[in-house]
Amino acid sequence: MSETTEATGRAPLRLGPLTLETPVLAAPIAGFTDWVFRSIVREHGGCGLIFTEMVSAGGWVAGSIPPERLRGVAEEERPLGVQLWDREPAMVEEAARRLVDYGVSLIDLNFGCPKKRIMGKQGAGAKLMRDPATVGRMVEATVRGAGDIPVTAKMRLGPAKDMLTAPEVARAAESAGAVAVTVHGRTARDSYGTPVDHDRLREVVEAVDIPVIANGDIDGPQAALRTFERTGAAGVMVARAALSRPWIFRDITCALRGEAIPAPPSLAEQRSQLLRHHARLVDLQGDPWGTVLMRKFACRYLSGVPGAKEFRAAISRAADAADFRRIVDELFPAGSPAFCSEDSDDAAPPLVEECCE
Ligand SMILES: Cc1cc2nc3c(=O)[nH]c(=O)nc-3n(C[C@H](O)[C@H](O)[C@H](O)COP(=O)(O)O)c2cc1C
Repeated sequence: MSETTEATGRAPLRLGPLTLETPVLAAPIAGFTDWVFRSIVREHGGCGLIFTEMVSAGGWVAGSIPPERLRGVAEEERPLGVQLWDREPAMVEEAARRLVDYGVSLIDLNFGCPKKRIMGKQGAGAKLMRDPATVGRMVEATVRGAGDIPVTAKMRLGPAKDMLTAPEVARAAESAGAVAVTVHGRTARDSYGTPVDHDRLREVVEAVDIPVIANGDIDGPQAALRTFERTGAAGVMVARAALSRPWIFRDITCALRGEAIPAPPSLAEQRSQLLRHHARLVDLQGDPWGTVLMRKFACRYLSGVPGAKEFRAAISRAADAADFRRIVDELFPAGSPAFCSEDSDDAAPPLVEECCE
């Protein structure tokens, strides 16, 4: 009988020396997956590995202080992955060397960012999907700098529909020493309206021997199970859905174990999570900056809850911590009606990829 993990009843997902408790990963999301948000995800459980936002390797190496995006990385629980982006092998090598001192669990390289600022001026992110040889050199250099820390690469299906290079890029990463690749099942030109292509994801799975983690449009347990089945991937990664439901990892892990999906947190629990998140940000960043940073999270948390539209309009202008708490007390009082799942009127507006540092 093959080996299984207690958490999911599936083969364990091994990323080099790192074995994940569950093959459900939390994606890097620039502007969101900071130290505080990661602590909220950890509280809900069910997440095998969580990532920082993408960090500019060159910016860090050239600057004298660690970037804000590395805040908490030294102190935080493990496992924790840090994602780097750049196009210069020497930069990622040096950044990886520095991350050894932080004792991170894994280093990921970004080859998927479609933003003009990253692809154009910097020639990095998804631009490198055109150039598997450079991807290979970047991974090789990172592996050299990282020592015993495993290195992975995150990519898209290719730069465009007529250039689906992911199998080739994944092979280049594998040959250079990557222990796994994550693939977002769209090209760099696709908008989020284009459905994720599971057949193309399966082609990447078949092209390499290392584990492939499938990513894109996983908004709950059913979508996760479907993604596993259609792609043959060894793991799944969730981004946007976790911003409104950070308990999604727990739900997917339960589904993988064949257990009933727990009820979503009550509205009272969601309210206290919202206040906890805000308090932690203010503690860390001071006020009003912590409150300003909290606005975007607050807008996403209450997606689908009755009255969310009105709440979003008010909270997105909260001036400081006292104002934030006043708005929550007025529009989202303790003892509000029960949670009502996603409905179009009250769902948060779509979030598009914004990788800019
Ligand atoms: C606002 C935003 C920021 C993102 N930042 C990053 C990032 O820093 N690094 C990265 O590899 N992908 C980033 N992504 C892409 C996501 O990690 C993920 O690949 C994509 O959203 C598809 O997954 P989803 O359908 O679960 O959202 C970002 C996406 C969004 C919407």
